[in-house]
Amino acid sequence: METVVDASTSEEANGSAVEKKPIVVFVLGGPGSGKGTQCAYIVEHFGFSHFSAGDLLRAEMNSGSENGLMIRSMINEGKIVPSEVTVNLLQQAMEESGNDKFLIDGFPRNEENRAAFEAVTGIEPAFVLFFDCPKEEMERRILNRNQGREDDNIETARKRFKVFLESSLPVVEYYESIGKLQKIDAARPIEEVFESVKTVFASINEKVKPHGRAEKKFTLLKLQLKWKMNLLRNGVCKGY
Ligand code: ADP
Ligand code: C5P
Ligand code: MG
Repeated sequence: METVVDASTSEEANGSAVEKKPIVVFVLGGPGSGKGTQCAYIVEHFGFSHFSAGDLLRAEMNSGSENGLMIRSMINEGKIVPSEVTVNLLQQAMEESGNDKFLIDGFPRNEENRAAFEAVTGIEPAFVLFFDCPKEEMERRILNRNQGREDDNIETARKRFKVFLESSLPVVEYYESIGKLQKIDAARPIEEVFESVKTVFASINEKVKPHGRAEKKFTLLKLQLKWKMNLLRNGVCKGY
C-alpha cells in the first residue's frame, strides 16, 4: 500500500512549496487494542506528541467543567461525545504542545469526528494506524487494565465494542479506501507489535524530519491563524 508520508508541505501549480502543515497520524483500534501502549513507544522513538481523545475527555470530565456531567454519562454508556467538544480539546492540546508532529489516539471515532476535525483544523492525517485485535483479546485486556476507569467493566466494554463496529470501523474502512491505512496485527506481545509499528514510522521518518525550533514556532502561528479562519468560514465549533 502506498503511504502518504509527508503532510508537511503543499505545492502550488508552479511546484514551489508554499506551506508547512503539522503532521498528524490518527491511531485507531477497538477498545483495549493497545493504542495508548504503542503511542508511548512511538513518542519515545519518533518525537511525536501524543494526545488520546479519551484521556482528554476524562480530564475534562474531572475538571468540573460544564461539560463534565455530559461527558461522564457518554463515557459510561460507551457513546461518542459530540465532536465539537472533542475537537476543541484536541486543538487546544495541539496548540499548547509546541510540537508539530501529533499522534491523535482514539480519534476519529465516527464520521462526525472525522469531518469536524478536518473542517476546523484543515488537516488531513498523513496516514492512519489501525491496531487490529480480536474482540476476546480486547475484552481480556480491558478487564485486566486496572487503571480505575469507570468504563472498564464488562457491560460498558460490550457497549463500546458495539459502537466500535457500528461507528468507528466505517471510518477505518474509509481510510483504507483512500490508501491511508496502515493495519497492524495487535494480537501479539507488545514488543512484537512495536516492531511492526517501527517499520511503518521508520519508512516515513526520513521524509518527516522534525522541524527546527524557529520553523516549528512559525508553523504553529500559521496553524492558529488558519484554524481561526476555518472557524469563521465553517462555524463548526461553537464556544469560540
Ligand atoms: P487502548 O488505548 O487501545 O484502549 P491500552 O494501550 O490501554 O489500549 O491497552 C489495554 C491494556 O492491555 C493495558 O493494560 C495494556 O497494558 C495491555 N496491553 C496493551 N498492549 C498489549 C499487548 N500487545 N499484549 C498484551 N497486553 C497488552
Ligand atoms: O479511547 P478510550 O478508550 O480512552 O475512550 C473512552 C471513551 O471516551 C469512549 O468509549 C467514548 O465514550 C469517549 N470517546 C469519545 N470520542 C472519542 C474518543 C473517546 O466520545 N473520539
Ligand atoms: Mg487508550
